Amino acid sequence: MALLEVSNLNVYYGNIHALKGIDLIVNEGEIVSLIGANGAGKTTTLQTISGLLRSKAGSITFNGKDITKERAHNIVRLGIAQVPEGRRVFANLTVSDNVRLGAYTIKDSHENLKRDRKNFYDVFPRMRERKKQIAGTLSGGEQQMLAMGRALMSRPKLLILDEPSMGLSPLFVKEIFNTIKKLNEQGTTILLVEQNAKMALAISDRAYVLETGRISLGGEAKKLAENPRVKQAYLGA
Ligand SMILES: Nc1ncnc2c1ncn2[C@@H]1O[C@H](COP(=O)(O)OP(=O)(O)O)[C@@H](O)[C@H]1O
Ligand SMILES: [Mg+2]
Repeated sequence: MALLEVSNLNVYYGNIHALKGIDLIVNEGEIVSLIGANGAGKTTTLQTISGLLRSKAGSITFNGKDITKERAHNIVRLGIAQVPEGRRVFANLTVSDNVRLGAYTIKDSHENLKRDRKNFYDVFPRMRERKKQIAGTLSGGEQQMLAMGRALMSRPKLLILDEPSMGLSPLFVKEIFNTIKKLNEQGTTILLVEQNAKMALAISDRAYVLETGRISLGGEAKKLAENPRVKQAYLGA
């Protein structure tokens, strides 16, 4: 059984038919990438899965449950966390407060929550050094780490990342991709949207190519990276 199954998803913005029947699957333990040009519908797909946008037709099943009409905060409770495009940390709060707020859906002992925070700071040691720093003063790469960490505090089964490497320096891009791999190895399933198709395909098990609201290709990431059409359109070959 797939952890996430999206079928025939149709989403509109007014008269604009943004998603024209998207089908995709994410199995437990996988990293799955969604690649495509600007405006292809990647963010729309993610926002619909997270319950922030509504579909006109189609269905979304998560962990065996139909979540097509579920509200966003319930979707977080069910185990999907999204780091949105542009990160959006709470800029006026400290790193530490941002991390604490990430656990707002979790009802558990102080001890366990503390352990979660410790895990977070172990994965992102740079954040430990900056606990007291106001989040808005972090660099772009640091804000991305904080946003990822905050999402992880809700203990998601599925972590959804929208363009995590956007606007970051090459060094941070590498670090973000390494972190995604590490989180996956620790058991988090990942759905990744990236403009950096080369790096995304390199860490993914499978991938889909989105073109103007439709999936045009899908399959094993390694095979897609060898596909001449993908190479030409997305890998700068
Ligand atoms: N809020 C909106 N209102 C109207 N059209 C939108 C809105 N958001 C996105 N779109 C349109 O939907 C299409 C898909 O956008 P988006 O999902 O943001 O693409 P991507 O993330 O792949 O760049 C684009 O044509 C875009 O212009
Ligand atoms: Mg987008």
